[in-house]
Amino acid sequence: MLNGPNLNLLGTREPEIYGKETLKDLENNLKKVADELDVNIECYQSNHEGDLVDKIQNSRNNTDFILLNAGAYTHTSVAIRDALAGIDVPFYEIHISNVHKREEFRHNSYLSAIAVGVIVGFGLDGYEYALRGAVRLLNRNH
Ligand code: DQA
Repeated sequence: MLNGPNLNLLGTREPEIYGKETLKDLENNLKKVADELDVNIECYQSNHEGDLVDKIQNSRNNTDFILLNAGAYTHTSVAIRDALAGIDVPFYEIHISNVHKREEFRHNSYLSAIAVGVIVGFGLDGYEYALRGAVRLLNRNH
């Protein structure tokens, strides 16, 4: 699971949009679900575009699936898209809020066209749905 800029502030950042749970709560929950599903999950957050690019590149040979909320970089980053396009690792794009009912600049994503799927507007539950969906997909394809 990769979280981009400002998602370290979950719980205190605009709680009416992003909820009251913290990034730690989210990571702990996903680890529990991963245990239940018998898969390994690594959780990483960065506010820096280049760090996210590095992390994506480094996942190339050791990761089956990426769950990615790139935050605001979703709407701006050709570099993150190119990193994802350049590795052979499928990913789901996740947004906590329904970006389509928010400002127009949030309606465009550089990532959606190359994602396996997009989960938008389910709050933090969206990450759990994404994890369960990814494991199902991998089990089906292997
Ligand atoms: C977000 C939506 C983005 O537009 C915003 O910049 C974020 C969070 C979401 O999870 O709803 O940082 O990705």
